[in-house]
Amino acid sequence: NLQVSINDINFNNPVLNAAGVRCQSTTELDAILASTAGGAVTKSATLQPRNGNETPRMQSLPFGSINSMGLPNYGFDYYLDYVINQQIAGNQNLILSIAGLSIAENLTMLRQIQASDYQGLVELNLSCPNVAGKSQVGYDFEAVADILAAAFTFFDGHLGLKLPPYFDLNQFDELSAILNQYPLTYVNSINSIGNGLAVDLDTETVVIKPKAGFGGIGGDYVKPTALANIRAFRLRLNPAIKIIGTGGISSGQDVFEHILCGADLVQIGTAFGPEGTPIFERVTDELETIMVAKGYRSLADFRGKLKII
Ligand code: DHB
Repeated sequence: NLQVSINDINFNNPVLNAAGVRCQSTTELDAILASTAGGAVTKSATLQPRNGNETPRMQSLPFGSINSMGLPNYGFDYYLDYVINQQIAGNQNLILSIAGLSIAENLTMLRQIQASDYQGLVELNLSCPNVAGKSQVGYDFEAVADILAAAFTFFDGHLGLKLPPYFDLNQFDELSAILNQYPLTYVNSINSIGNGLAVDLDTETVVIKPKAGFGGIGGDYVKPTALANIRAFRLRLNPAIKIIGTGGISSGQDVFEHILCGADLVQIGTAFGPEGTPIFERVTDELETIMVAKGYRSLADFRGKLKII
């Protein structure tokens, strides 16, 4: 039994896509929902449609990927309409991701969600590293506190935050103290490790065009950082704040590790790109095999139960 519920919203299994990969169009989102994925996350929306950065803007690497997409998306209304239509069709296993270009833009979108019929999960992305001139809000704790204070004056839906990776344990202490003051539904760790660089030996060039080659790193490279962020937040956040684990998942073992560190749901980004929707059935099958071998019957049997030595 792989079922999970977050604030009474039910997921048949914990494995979803990560925002950004194969989830920009309704066709792509329909394909995720038609697969055995536990649910679907929409491409992070800005208020206005965007074409994103110049290409090439994504490249596979030996152990993952680098990207600087620059938030290509069809605009907030497109995704809000989609999740509302899914809700009408009886599907609650969706996450609406928003990534405004300013705090004001995020608050505008949250007000529109509040005024709409949508009652599902909302993921406020505070960690896009790829829009030139915009810093990652998740690294500015005062700004995070300000946006939460403003949002919770009017928003009473299910709000989660997509956060960048942190690398200093004091950051987890400081940020958790802020997050614990609000009725957040979840934290999603991690977004890509921002502003990595990859080199092409033959041409002696960078491998993506935007931002002179700097871009977000995903895939196997980031799994230890993701596990650390999940674990560090699980040890500090109120139990009512759930955790979505994202980063370096391409197998059932990876999912198991994320859940053992404290994740309630998980999301697959980099590995979903080349493999497509069959990845969801493969990793959930692999997860079930591990659970059977260990004698675990539900995710709660091992969630957060990482042992120290
Ligand atoms: C993009 C990348 C991210 O890591 C993110 O959180 C949002 C957007 C992008 O480049 O489109």
